[in-house]
Amino acid sequence: MPTILGIESTAHTFGIGIVKDGKILANVRDMYTTESGGIIPIESAKHHAKIADEVYDKAISEAGINEKEVDAIAFSNAPGLAPCLIEGMKFAKKLANKLKKPLVSVNHCIAHLEIGRITGAKDPVMLYVSGANTQIIAYETGKYRIFGETLDLGVGNFIDTVARFMGLGFPGGYAIEKLAKFGKYVELPYSVKGMDIVLSGIQTNIKQKIEKLKLHPQVRDINKIKLMKKRKVVQSSGLSVNSSQKSEQSEVNYSLADLAFSLQETVFAMLVETAERALAHTGKKELLLAGGVACNSRLVEMCKIMCAERGCKFFVPEKSLLIDNGSMIAFTGEILFKNGIKKKPEKVDIFPRERIDNVEISWK
Ligand code: ATP
Ligand code: FE2
Repeated sequence: MPTILGIESTAHTFGIGIVKDGKILANVRDMYTTESGGIIPIESAKHHAKIADEVYDKAISEAGINEKEVDAIAFSNAPGLAPCLIEGMKFAKKLANKLKKPLVSVNHCIAHLEIGRITGAKDPVMLYVSGANTQIIAYETGKYRIFGETLDLGVGNFIDTVARFMGLGFPGGYAIEKLAKFGKYVELPYSVKGMDIVLSGIQTNIKQKIEKLKLHPQVRDINKIKLMKKRKVVQSSGLSVNSSQKSEQSEVNYSLADLAFSLQETVFAMLVETAERALAHTGKKELLLAGGVACNSRLVEMCKIMCAERGCKFFVPEKSLLIDNGSMIAFTGEILFKNGIKKKPEKVDIFPRERIDNVEISWK
């Protein structure tokens, strides 16, 4: 049984996982984060270069192996931010040359889906919800086919942008989920077109509501954010309140928490509706949730309810395998390697814009 080391570097995370016979021996990751503002590709790449050796040493020690036991090095070569992909490839090539082992190029999106096999799902409809991607996918005749997708923003990037308007830092998904627990429903636009969704109109609507709130901040919101900061749930609120503003509170009848709650209820309902349509269309009986946004417990709950009502099985991997990680690259790399897919270091390249439905799936 081969031992495969997998390197993830496509965006904010540098991760190394080690897998043997479908079992995860190590999963170490380090994430580039910011207190305000979004991801700066070149800064994220610098983060990866700085942290790579440390993550590697930790992964080897966590797996309890000697590096000479590694049979191949898998790395995510597509899609992603070019500077980040280049850092990952540089590290993979360095390692391949040092250990005299082949490289296995892995499409990052396919890795997010393939790791779902670990849950026992056999032939699912996949709701892939991550930073840049939001797609409803199923495997049909040699390819992962996209049945529906966002027509503009990835749902994770959408949530991160809203979190940034709120001053919650990057990434914002976890902070939005926590804030949503204090909220109640306010109406937001709902935008489903067949099996596709559109998010930019909702984002503009929320942005306008936040701008209004910044002029009239709600004391209870500020207190909640302070409480969350104390509990280290959010990094920085970006909002302040003074006595003259306090007196204007009554002019808006919603809070940041209400917007976070309503964002989740609205956008996740759109995702679940389109996933259900894909289940009906394909006749498949399993739903697999994949990608970082699948860490959200409200989305998981809504998917479970829909699947129970349809008599479908629902699968979601554990959180450490949802957010970008090296294990999903190693896990997919092992499948490819066992099917004879490997390359010499001088033959590999990066493909920042490769789409999942362009990849020929020769291993299924
Ligand atoms: P892609 O896979 O499309 O290239 P990515 O690799 O940047 O995108 P992932 O690491 O899979 O994305 O997921 C990161 C995203 O998941 C971020 O946008 C983050 O805010 C979001 N996320 C993480 N936890 C939660 C949560 N609890 N609720 C909602 N979103 C979350
Ligand atoms: Fe990802």
